[in-house]
Amino acid sequence: MSKVDVLLGLQWGDEGKGKIVDVLAPKYDVVARFQGGPNAGHTLEFDGIKHVLHQIPSGIFREKTKNIIGNGVVLDPIIFKSEIEKLKKYNLNVHANLFISKKATLILPTHRLLDQAYEKAKGENKIGSTLKGIGPTYQDKIGRQGLRVGDILSDSFKERLDKLTQIHFKILKEHGLEFNWTELESQFLDAVEFLKGFRLIESEYVLNQELKAGSTILAEGAQGALLDIDFGSYPFVTSSSTVTAGACTGLGVAPSHIGEVYGIFKAYSTRVGSGPFPTELNDDQGELMRKEGNEFGSTTGRPRRCGWIDLPSLKYSIMINGVTQLLMMKADVLNVFPIIKICTHYKLSDGTVTDMVPYEVVKEKIIPIYKEMKGWNISLKGFTKDNLPAALNEYIKFLETELNVPITLVSTGPDRTQTILR
Ligand code: GDP
Ligand code: IMO
Ligand code: MG
Repeated sequence: MSKVDVLLGLQWGDEGKGKIVDVLAPKYDVVARFQGGPNAGHTLEFDGIKHVLHQIPSGIFREKTKNIIGNGVVLDPIIFKSEIEKLKKYNLNVHANLFISKKATLILPTHRLLDQAYEKAKGENKIGSTLKGIGPTYQDKIGRQGLRVGDILSDSFKERLDKLTQIHFKILKEHGLEFNWTELESQFLDAVEFLKGFRLIESEYVLNQELKAGSTILAEGAQGALLDIDFGSYPFVTSSSTVTAGACTGLGVAPSHIGEVYGIFKAYSTRVGSGPFPTELNDDQGELMRKEGNEFGSTTGRPRRCGWIDLPSLKYSIMINGVTQLLMMKADVLNVFPIIKICTHYKLSDGTVTDMVPYEVVKEKIIPIYKEMKGWNISLKGFTKDNLPAALNEYIKFLETELNVPITLVSTGPDRTQTILR
């Protein structure tokens, strides 16, 4: 029996999961997404081309890898169709290599509208959602009235769609949202027909059979641990379980079948959308990070908030996820900083100094306590694991000691090849 390795973000998303899944995929027979949906934007770069995937697993460019969209995912057929169409020119065998769980929940056009309505109603307190309908779809799933991918094969699908959209229309009317349902419905039904052309499976059986046969499986997380529905800075979170346990429920694999847990983090921090961000830099240095890191959302194009690395929150993520290996991304973005700061502790409003994330993380006025280190301050082009600049080695060593998990990979650029294994 083999194991499922899990790769997930330890911060607020956009750590570089897409790049690393693509790098690791040749080692895996199967890559499977287990939660989230088109709120994700996973970037892969090779041969001078940049690809952004939203719902399709990041193993899709590797010929021998099976890609599975698991039951824990929320799937928008319209976005799915447009993603597949964008991939057409690369001649990938998506009909053979891509499998979709019948138990994944469908995002309807009305879910997207509800997302807009709820955000608007929140006013200043809005979550900063990607407005892809994620929250309202998971609400319907948990409320036991959602529609699932497998339902599209049933004769009563249209009837069930009508029933659910009627419920949505009532709420949308209360919010005064105007829309043209005839157009949206026809676009949706067209995409549903398209979806029927793919391999719709009971992915929990397929994955467990693969495990029995000794196949290697990589579970690809979306978002990050600090956006998790239970452990993130609630309510400024997404609506799914972004943590390792989510891979079990989102794929139907037992906890005892989890192997390595790759925790991926940026050498600094970013966040897009609202919510607490203790080390955020609202100054020239933050601006420089955004520029050097090209920190603009892969899904929405919004500028990402930037700041120094935050060890209390990383320690929390590592604990919740049982991380066995750390992967440090975007080290090159710090090349231009002569001094690098590391937040080791938080000072709370009552004077307490702690390296734990407080319950009142949203309300608390957290003051980060920093350790300063000398930056390497040169380009990382051409460096290998054996001759990394001393200051970068010091940075890595300090993080490993504090976090108590080895950093086994350092990424120095967006391309597949800009990856140093330690
Ligand atoms: P994901 O959502 O975790 O897959 O990450 P995103 O794709 O949303 O954001 C990561 C961004 O950083 C993308 O534009 C990547 O191409 C880019 N990237 C990934 N690794 C590196 C790196 O090591 N250095 C630099 N400069 N960019 C990177
Ligand atoms: P990947 O997989 C970064 C953020 C949104 C918002 C909050 C809720 O690319 O790392 P939602 O649309 O889920 O209702 O938004 O979560 N968010 C992400 N931030 N990367 C993502 O995905 C994100 N997916 C959602 O900005 O603050
Ligand atoms: Mg992203």
